[in-house]
Amino acid sequence: MLFFISLVRFFEKMKAAEFQKKIIEWYEENKRQLPWRETVDPYKIWLSEIILQQTRVAQGLPYYLRFVKSFPTVDSLANASQQQVLRLWQGLGYYSRARNLHACARVVASEQNGKFPDNYKDLLKLKGIGPYTAAAIASFAFKEPVAVVDGNVFRVLSRVFGMEADITTPKAKDLFTKKANELISKDRPDLFNQAMMEFGALQCVPKNPKCEECIFSKSCVARKHELQNVLPIKSKKVKVRNRYFYYFVVRYKNKVLMKKREAKDIWQGLYDFYLIETKRSKKVSELLKTDPEFKGSTKTNESKIYKHVLSHQKLVVRFVEMELENIQTLKPTELKWFTDREIAALPKPILIANYMVDRSKQK
Ligand code: ADE
Repeated sequence: MLFFISLVRFFEKMKAAEFQKKIIEWYEENKRQLPWRETVDPYKIWLSEIILQQTRVAQGLPYYLRFVKSFPTVDSLANASQQQVLRLWQGLGYYSRARNLHACARVVASEQNGKFPDNYKDLLKLKGIGPYTAAAIASFAFKEPVAVVDGNVFRVLSRVFGMEADITTPKAKDLFTKKANELISKDRPDLFNQAMMEFGALQCVPKNPKCEECIFSKSCVARKHELQNVLPIKSKKVKVRNRYFYYFVVRYKNKVLMKKREAKDIWQGLYDFYLIETKRSKKVSELLKTDPEFKGSTKTNESKIYKHVLSHQKLVVRFVEMELENIQTLKPTELKWFTDREIAALPKPILIANYMVDRSKQK
């Protein structure tokens, strides 16, 4: 019996070695040259991985370059204000990533002497660093053999090995992590992890994977059974809720009223205009009639509808320009007056930045 188990283990190891060899060779031939692959600085690796979560390389790359230029070390990032960090993040979305990035930099700077932990277990203890990011930093910077499991890795493993577990479940996450850790190269965990992600990003892509010219074409289970469009199995469909935003851009002389969003909602820490949100679409004239704030101001423009899609919400937005006749009529609120120049430096949702560009073109 023992002999039999040893034999099975031996063959498993052989298979893993063959898989590693193939995918690392493929990577060496096909990889994109990306700046975070040229460094072993855990700070830069961490920064790149936070930026690349839920973001494509082409979109994330300029942000990475700007961040590294503005904040070349974790201490410099820690010393920045949250407003500076959010402004630099503007347009990338999922702004909690930027807030957590900043909070984590402050912890590393103040409590760890500006040094990231050098192993998976301790990296995981940091706020905002989950299993994926900890594995990426530990393997890329410190060559620790821990497998990264992101959307690309799920796809490659589920197709090549015919793994049918629903990847939205914690059980599947465990299964895939176990499989990836069985396969990982102990000598080159950094290359192996990069290779798995790159293979998913370039070859084993979600739609129309390049199966004809694939290194796994002979053994791939999905290809054999024509399951490329079925695997990976992902059951949960996110529910998308509609929100109707009416932004009133209130001007007085050369200033505009804006406020910092503080609530636990989208865009926390970013600046927007006076907002009325409704459950259904409304006529602007109705809102102006019923809201006492608008006494003593005149509507000067009403924008087209802007649609803005987030992961769980669809925003239907209209901007209404208002000219205030007498500043005395305005009650004190959390809104403050800003000049155009000051607004340019504020972190804003990209929807608002886009509106302001459109508006300046019309003038
Ligand atoms: N996506 C997430 N991490 C990545 C990396 N290190 N290289 C390319 N794409 C990625």
